Amino acid sequence: MSHTHENRDDKVSLVEMGPRDGLQNEAATLPLAQRLALIARLAESGLQRIEVGAFVSPKKVPQMADSAALFNALPRRGPTRYAALVPNLQGLQTAIAARADEIGLFTACSDGFTRANIGISVEESLVRFAPLVQEARSLGIKVRGYLSTVIACPFDGPTRPKRVAALAERLLDLGCHEISLGDTIGVGTPGTVAPMLDAVLHEIPAGRLAVHFHDTYGQGLANLLPALERGIRTIDCSVAGLGGCPYAPGASGNVASEEVVYLLHGLGMSTGVDLDQLAATGQWVSELLGRPNGSRVGQALHGRGRRLAQEREQRALGSHHAS
Ligand code: HMG
Ligand code: MG
Repeated sequence: MSHTHENRDDKVSLVEMGPRDGLQNEAATLPLAQRLALIARLAESGLQRIEVGAFVSPKKVPQMADSAALFNALPRRGPTRYAALVPNLQGLQTAIAARADEIGLFTACSDGFTRANIGISVEESLVRFAPLVQEARSLGIKVRGYLSTVIACPFDGPTRPKRVAALAERLLDLGCHEISLGDTIGVGTPGTVAPMLDAVLHEIPAGRLAVHFHDTYGQGLANLLPALERGIRTIDCSVAGLGGCPYAPGASGNVASEEVVYLLHGLGMSTGVDLDQLAATGQWVSELLGRPNGSRVGQALHGRGRRLAQEREQRALGSHHAS
């Protein structure tokens, strides 16, 4: 049965990736207090799902090393749910001890990327995940399944849409509540994303899917349109466009959260996010990391804020001189 149908629901759920997918690939490692401040600010701006850390090998991703301490210090007030990325049993056990609200398991459509990322093949990863999903679910912890390289792999080349559909279905069958479709290296355009989504939606309802587009070629925002048209209402994004993936050479961050909120509000859809507050956080974290703000919307709003402040200052000076 085809599940491709128009979804008239105007609410979109954003899954904020900045503290995990973003910071895992920034050259500067933020200290714990600053990671915590970032997460608190993101939650305050209205984001209700935030992936805050990863329980992976600290030798492979040192930026995520103190994720357990981070979880223990999180502000647990309010509706925001905090997720952790987990590659194996050791990671799951740490995530459970750290009281992660949700975990994300991750595999890919291609063996080349999966081997570089977690040291095993795609098939081996599915075998590994089966008991992990059961264990997490028995404790009431929701499991998201990430599927990387849905358009192409940096090692193995283009991915066939039918392969994405088959693997997404297998992750769902393992017990994942949602599948996040990752264009890890951001090479897709609506021309390749639409047929991929059509193949997946042939097997899986839109309500169980999320899209995770990296913006390497500047197509992230354009690629959201075919997803929205097909009824997908869960979007992964990263404040200030932070990040990339250390095991996908040349990849840049997820589509910036500010861009996604601006687009969705412009389409008359709701996100529950305060764009000005989010953009201020994007500017703040970019300055902390000593890098340019990767969000065009963030840059525009920051520039406007500075101009308004200058005008206010000039008016104040003018009235001072007049008096
Ligand atoms: P391995 O070396 O094969 O693992 O790594 P191992 O089981 O042989 O253990 C080796 C060492 O790692 C041991 O320590 C273990 O204790 C330790 P030692 O005895 O040498 O001191 N170890 C761990 N430490 C902490 N937490 C753990 C853990 N497991 C083992 N969970 C492993 C296998 C999977 C651990 C490693 O390859 C790894 O950590 N990979 C993760 C890489 C990663 O984080 N990549 C980025 C995230 S994926 C992504 O960004 C894509 C996504 O955004 C979607 C998209 O964009 O497409 C999700
Ligand atoms: Mg990613």
